[in-house]
Amino acid sequence: MEKVKMTWLGHSAFLFEAEKKVLIDPFITGNPKAPCGPEELNPDIIAVTHGHADHLGDTIEIGERAGCRIVSIHEVANYIKSKGVFAEGMNKGGTFDVDGVTFTMTEALHSSSIDASGFSFDGGCPAGFVIGIGGHSIYHAGDTGVFGDMRLIGELYEPEIAFLPIGSKFTMGIKEAVKAVELIKPKIVIPMHYSTFDVIEQDPEEFKKAVEEKGDTKVIIMKPGETLEL
Ligand code: NI
Ligand code: MN
Repeated sequence: MEKVKMTWLGHSAFLFEAEKKVLIDPFITGNPKAPCGPEELNPDIIAVTHGHADHLGDTIEIGERAGCRIVSIHEVANYIKSKGVFAEGMNKGGTFDVDGVTFTMTEALHSSSIDASGFSFDGGCPAGFVIGIGGHSIYHAGDTGVFGDMRLIGELYEPEIAFLPIGSKFTMGIKEAVKAVELIKPKIVIPMHYSTFDVIEQDPEEFKKAVEEKGDTKVIIMKPGETLEL
């Protein structure tokens, strides 16, 4: 297995680096927790879970400059292409190999309109990804509520590490995310999509305590800008 470096860019944005650099949900501009500017990011691949501005983020600008491949659900890919930047659409349940990194698109319980220039475009359905990189299986849940088929994601893809939202209001809160961990059974969980803004303020220590009291999964609380190695 190869080493994978994982850096939190705040909110749901992460950079995974092995042979290829994968940027997911690059909401950098306007993200008060972002440790860098979008111009500092040079990924090989960008993956977008859904159309909301705090996930689509700087995808078009970074994609255009870096000339990287972009993966998202069909409708979001069409929107990106309408802006003159190439993107590749896929859909739920399928796996797409992008230069040796695999993306399996999963369910997410949420919405996905694209809000741009005062108009709302159809962003299709929201999704999550199981990413196969450097021999590791990583689950990024996107924005989602808890759902029973998270158990199936755990059984099929056996993610070592799961990135789960805990901010509530728009996604799972702590209570629901603790249940999600029980269903997915990863070795490690990293909470995301909390405390970026006041409306999603959460104490990740409370989540860590609740998860670690229940089972063997370890919770690692990252700081924006911090890098972990898997
Ligand atoms: Ni969202
Ligand atoms: Mn969001």
